[in-house]
Amino acid sequence: MLDFACGLGQDLRKLAYDGVNAKKLYGVDSSQGLIDAGSYLFQDRTTDLTFVTGNIWADDPLKNLPMGEKTFDIVHCSAFFHVFSFDQQIRIAKTLAGFLSENSNALIFGWTTGMMEAGEYGVGRNGEGRAYAHNVQSFQNLWEVVREQTQTTWHVEAVLQKAPEIFNRISNMEAWEVDVPERMFLHFSVRKG
Ligand SMILES: C[S@@+](CC[C@H](N)C(=O)[O-])C[C@H]1O[C@@H](n2cnc3c(N)ncnc32)[C@H](O)[C@@H]1O
Repeated sequence: MLDFACGLGQDLRKLAYDGVNAKKLYGVDSSQGLIDAGSYLFQDRTTDLTFVTGNIWADDPLKNLPMGEKTFDIVHCSAFFHVFSFDQQIRIAKTLAGFLSENSNALIFGWTTGMMEAGEYGVGRNGEGRAYAHNVQSFQNLWEVVREQTQTTWHVEAVLQKAPEIFNRISNMEAWEVDVPERMFLHFSVRKG
């Protein structure tokens, strides 16, 4: 399994803790600092988990992985889509799709910030960045564009849910330009159709 934009790597560590073979878990993030912070936080530098840097916009975002085969049955991607505009998310979706193996059950799953009313919102201290928050329909639309552009079909499941309470308590620290009364997550899974 690949966790793309794994950040501190807590999700892979949870899987390893729960019994998944750590040698089969790979984390990629553009920030070496966050990868290092994860090792420092969890005090497990000798873990069998693999963490390497990689940038979604690079020609080969997985080039630092120490293996010839660069495809995965499961690609996890959480709290990443929502950092980007709709058009950038199309590119991300196509790139993640390219990481999937030929296994007919191969899937991409994760969550992204959701809104009842999907749209592009200003983010950052002054609202200078643009980020697209999804509802179920807009996320399906995203994969419909991927289908049109790549001649592939996708089975998309998504559900918009209230975020865990902790996220509402920290929402003031975030700078979405809309007043978010209640933080929502769009949980998704995407399989080849
Ligand atoms: C909000 S964090 C989410 C981290 C983790 N998935 C989680 O759920 O805790 C977004 C992550 O995306 C990474 N990131 C940002 N731009 C990236 C890029 N162009 N390529 C790869 N990773 C990127 C950041 O370093 C950060 O770790």
